[in-house]
Amino acid sequence: MTDGDAVPGRMAAAAPRPIVLDCDPGHDDALAIMLAAGDPRVDLLGVTTVAGNQTVEKTTHNACAVATVAGLTGLDVAAGCDRPLLRELTTAPGIHGASGMDGPPPVAPSVHPVQGHAVDFLIGKVMEAPGEVTIVATAPLTNVALALRREPAIATAVREVVIMGGAFGRGNVTPAAEFNIFVDPEAAAIVFGAPWPVTMMGLDVTHQATCTRETQARIGAIGSPVATFATQLIDYFRSTYRREQSMEDPPVHDACAVAYVADPSLFNVRPALVEIETKGERTSGMTVTTFMPEGASARHHVGTSLRREAFWDAVIRAIAALGSV
Ligand code: BDR
Ligand code: CA
Repeated sequence: MTDGDAVPGRMAAAAPRPIVLDCDPGHDDALAIMLAAGDPRVDLLGVTTVAGNQTVEKTTHNACAVATVAGLTGLDVAAGCDRPLLRELTTAPGIHGASGMDGPPPVAPSVHPVQGHAVDFLIGKVMEAPGEVTIVATAPLTNVALALRREPAIATAVREVVIMGGAFGRGNVTPAAEFNIFVDPEAAAIVFGAPWPVTMMGLDVTHQATCTRETQARIGAIGSPVATFATQLIDYFRSTYRREQSMEDPPVHDACAVAYVADPSLFNVRPALVEIETKGERTSGMTVTTFMPEGASARHHVGTSLRREAFWDAVIRAIAALGSV
């Protein structure tokens, strides 16, 4: 029997979905890496990093640190852009600390970045397997926009782009804008303006993915080094979300974008047109969302709700699988 033959009476498991995760770790980016690496429905081809929550040097170090703690010794990490396309970099030390991933004791990574730029890494992975690779972006969209400019063919070769960013409701940096889009609105305008399918997991849905103390205890109960690391991240994230955003429990925004690839049925999404405000004096970075009727053919889809319990079950299963993958 070949791999492709179905066992009679049993559903063939779908092949894992190949992704490149473009991120700026970042507490919730770290959880996104763990989910992507530990969930068997996702094939993590590599991690690309960009300036956002902290400088690209720090976010790259942090990605390598997560890979090290999670035992992902073969993971490719490629460093990318050190600033937005046109603007000065805004970082988020109030939420993520001076290191970009404050909380756990410092890690000396044994995983190191690969040679070459994240933009070329992204292009290479998409063009190697036309129609198969999904780009999951959980950071300012600078790398993704530049990849599109450098190799426009990725617009038709990519399977899908899934981003954590934006909101159809209120922002978190300003009343209008969410952090990832606020930092590089010109890049976001390029990404949302391109002829490829984009699914946006914005604050409206990621604020439903909060990590309660009960959920955190389930992660801690796994007992492995990576699970302990995750709980240390969540402790810090809880303290800053309470102080800066008046939220009782921290939302692990970025894991939502990976979870959508692993299991789209965890989310409700609606067809929409998303346009980026780049000029507004007070609204720069706003994701202006026009919903379309259910079933309409649309290039953009926007997450509206999450099955929270099932989402956390998936994240916890993935963290538990790390170290044994
Ligand atoms: C987004 O901003 C960053 O601080 C988080 O990592 C997430 O990607 C939430 O607005
Ligand atoms: Ca992020």
